[in-house]
Amino acid sequence: MKFTVAIDGPAAAGKGTIGRAVAAHFGFAHLDTGLLYRAVGMRALEDGRGILDPHWAATIARRLRPEDLEVPGLRSAVAGRAASKVAALPEVRKALLKFQRDFARREGGAVLDGRDIGTVICPEAEVKLFVTASDEVRAERRWRELGGDYEAVLADVRARDRRDSERAAAPMRMAADALLLDTSDLTIDAAVAEAVAHVQSRFDAVRDRP
Ligand code: C5P
Repeated sequence: MKFTVAIDGPAAAGKGTIGRAVAAHFGFAHLDTGLLYRAVGMRALEDGRGILDPHWAATIARRLRPEDLEVPGLRSAVAGRAASKVAALPEVRKALLKFQRDFARREGGAVLDGRDIGTVICPEAEVKLFVTASDEVRAERRWRELGGDYEAVLADVRARDRRDSERAAAPMRMAADALLLDTSDLTIDAAVAEAVAHVQSRFDAVRDRP
């Protein structure tokens, strides 16, 4: 059975935590699509050429291997910034499209989290969630995770949101049929419980369809 849960939203809103928990609960596969862009961004940064040359960045994206997603440092702020730069290049997005679509429609169910899953990668997803939280709450979570100066982390989160929502290619948007989940005042357990309950209700509706 094909069943896709599309989770979109800005940086550090809780998409990854919710996505992993939903996938574990239902036994679905999970893909953190941000890692794809982070891996391309880091490679492009390392060889110095890809950030400036869209064709080369797209070549890096086409050559991406599963083991590239295991590289240490992909969760760093540097990788996040590099990711959001290469993610604005339509050639790079195109190179990563098929892999994500195939993952979304695999047998047995899939959860993908990112920025454009419910709008571009899988508009036919059975469940769409848009997970968000206030800028300050998201910056605090990132700061606890990565350390550094809180004000700098807040500025970084806001700059990345702006780049992700104002770019022409697949900008971050909430799909019209997505459920908005604001995690600003929720514990992780409460946010996961809300997401699981919503997925369960959609799952029951699809299963009972004649
Ligand atoms: O979610 P994460 O912070 O790991 O994403 C890193 C960057 O990758 C984002 O800021 C965004 O620019 C890009 N991205 C994207 N589309 C996705 C997932 C991530 O453009 N589906």
